[in-house]
Amino acid sequence: MTQELILANAQIVLKDEVRRGSLKIVGETIEAIDTGTTVPQGAVDCGGDYVAPGLVELHTDNLEQHLHPRPGVDWPHAAAILAHDAEIAGSGITTVFDAMRVGFNPSTRADSAAYARGLASELWALREADTLRISHFLHLRAEICAETLIDDLNEFGTEDRVGIVSLMDHTPGQRQYADVSKLADYMKRTQGMTGAAFDEYCDQLMAQRDRLGEKHEAHAVACARTFGAVLASHDDSTQAQVDHSAAYGVQVAEFPTTTEAAKACRDHGIPVMMGAPNVIRGGSHSGNVAAEPLAKEGLLDILSSDYVPAALLLAAVRLGETWDDLARGLSTVTAAPARAVGLTDRGTIETGKRADLIRFRLHDGTPILNGVWSRGRRAA
Ligand SMILES: [Fe+2]
Repeated sequence: MTQELILANAQIVLKDEVRRGSLKIVGETIEAIDTGTTVPQGAVDCGGDYVAPGLVELHTDNLEQHLHPRPGVDWPHAAAILAHDAEIAGSGITTVFDAMRVGFNPSTRADSAAYARGLASELWALREADTLRISHFLHLRAEICAETLIDDLNEFGTEDRVGIVSLMDHTPGQRQYADVSKLADYMKRTQGMTGAAFDEYCDQLMAQRDRLGEKHEAHAVACARTFGAVLASHDDSTQAQVDHSAAYGVQVAEFPTTTEAAKACRDHGIPVMMGAPNVIRGGSHSGNVAAEPLAKEGLLDILSSDYVPAALLLAAVRLGETWDDLARGLSTVTAAPARAVGLTDRGTIETGKRADLIRFRLHDGTPILNGVWSRGRRAA
């Protein structure tokens, strides 16, 4: 028999408003939305909690953190994937694009080696065995100046659920590392690299950009098309960079680093994604433009949890306060990301959509999750 669930007496976060009522879920789908506070027999009384769409996360490094809980520690992959899946579900996320890097520099970084192909196969094997709580896609982060990029990308195919390919260029002196001292800090902290060795490393990367950048970028764009994936730009800083991205058909801009770039995205109709941790911390950890002022200017469309899964719902609620519109705040982590990647079956509470849902209340502005459902099935 198809399972039925009624979440009653809830504040339902719809696309443009919050309305008191109940939701009826039949099997994997939202079947009906009713208004009022009545709690029918057999229904779950939500006691005025919010019920919102499950969150859609387009860019998270969280799986990598579970794979390497300490530098040099390679945790068993299946266990890492399952722990990541549970943590993401427990943060209210019901659709996740798992970021995996493609493109490494084995000649300059002895510790770097391609891992995405093997990891993706392990992820899909676990999915096939119905062990995952939520919906997973791949987000291939293409480091376009890296030596192994073409070989790494060519290991993927149309069967790999590659939802996003992002064009990354972390060459020192521009974009995320316009301020080279930020990269120097990072390399010192993670690799113990300093002084002349760091200068030489930067010189090599810049030479590599001249040698490989253009060819690799074109290959990554072609692969995105083959995979049926959305193309994303990353760390665009200038009008010219955004124009260049738009010419490639970029459909979402990850973390533009300046107001100029965010405005250029708006002119091109490219949705702007910013980091949820940036909203919470009041600024970017790498010194780029702060998310909240962009939100006030109407230049922020999507949030991503980036490196803190639990930041996603918290930051969406915070933006809801900024805009004095909770439904609009929540849309940055539900409808807007779903739309950006062409997922039309989720991201809003409407009849006929997937029953991907979260239930939460606020405690001094901090969301307390009381339930997560993925396709009508309890996920956390
Ligand atoms: Fe970046």
